[in-house]
Amino acid sequence: TWSAVPAGPPDAILGVTEAFKRDQDPRKINLGVGAYRDGNGKPFVLPSVKKAEEIISQSGDKEYLPITGLPEFTRRAALLAYGAESAPLKGNAVAVTQSISGTGALRIGGAFLARFYPHSKTIYLPTPTWGNHTPIFRDSGLEVKGYRYYDKKTVGLDFEGLKADLQSMPEKSIVLLHACAHNPTGVDPTQAQWIEISNIIKEKSLFPFFDMAYQGFASGSTSKDAFAVRHFVSEGHQVALCQSFAKNMGLYGERVGAFSLTTADPEEKARVESQLKIVIRPMYSNPPLHGARIASTILGSPELYSEWEGEVKGMAERIISMRDRLYDNLVAQKTPGEWGHIKSQIGMFSFTGLTTPQTKALAEKAHIYMTADGRISMAGLNAHNIDYFSESVSRAVKG
Ligand code: LMR
Repeated sequence: TWSAVPAGPPDAILGVTEAFKRDQDPRKINLGVGAYRDGNGKPFVLPSVKKAEEIISQSGDKEYLPITGLPEFTRRAALLAYGAESAPLKGNAVAVTQSISGTGALRIGGAFLARFYPHSKTIYLPTPTWGNHTPIFRDSGLEVKGYRYYDKKTVGLDFEGLKADLQSMPEKSIVLLHACAHNPTGVDPTQAQWIEISNIIKEKSLFPFFDMAYQGFASGSTSKDAFAVRHFVSEGHQVALCQSFAKNMGLYGERVGAFSLTTADPEEKARVESQLKIVIRPMYSNPPLHGARIASTILGSPELYSEWEGEVKGMAERIISMRDRLYDNLVAQKTPGEWGHIKSQIGMFSFTGLTTPQTKALAEKAHIYMTADGRISMAGLNAHNIDYFSESVSRAVKG
């Protein structure tokens, strides 16, 4: 029956973890998937998460959630993203559903837009973007195109290219924006640039679709990282927003996220939510319970919330300290090239500029694993492995 099924390639990101697991060398390092590791390279369960789990273990059943998830979770998630001053939140005009983390949010959003967005079936993604964006939107039934984002020469934002491409899109096209900590490049627009982007998007009546998978991870502050989303909303844009609690609460495997749309008024919101349910029900019926309870407990308790904010900041700071060390090491080892971007890039990743052959050589000779585009998860570096990593990179670059 399946003789005509061709073997598929390994996933560009999760396939790296598979290769890492097969490697038996004690020096091996996995810088592939964006998953935080502590200073000893171990997965990190946030203390605020452990406390929330203690609280919820005292109560609660295992009943089904509603199709759109745990109401107190979605309310608090929307508040975290949009902020208490948000006009659509205050006006009860945000349609929101729990999702199976960020990927699930993107998929619900893609499917909803493919079915109901009347003006366009084309979504423009930044070049490059997270490897899963293209298949998510393609499988949702949208046509996927790209806009200029990253400039290889400056290892920074191609702001002129980005603006020109927004200007030349057909009116009302859908544009995917990484709200903060752009994955894979770590290159974000400045606040002034976001304001310009918002103006062009308004002039062209484009539809902004935000992916916010790293709120808190870029700057260490959840409100600063929400600048783009909040600015767009305050400018009167209607937005789509995907949220993930994988990174900022370390809830990777719990699959906790949210998808929301700002709408005109409570009546429109109710209609939109009714259709979100109809999109979701045949996909997975209703979302998992445990992670949403954790996130909701943290977001709903002033003490746990401030403890969590400190923990997010701590994770962001450890990553920044690794950026400084990596930069210093590469310079001290007289590694050919300019390495300032390691320090200026934001969030969990650094887009090193290493070529695919260099990444292959690092895996084969040094047991160091990263995606083929040269992206490294900074969180995989620590005081124990950073010197070995820097020396290996230096050697790979010197050839
Ligand atoms: C990544 O880019 O490494 C993360 O977003 C994890 C994933 O699912 O790819």
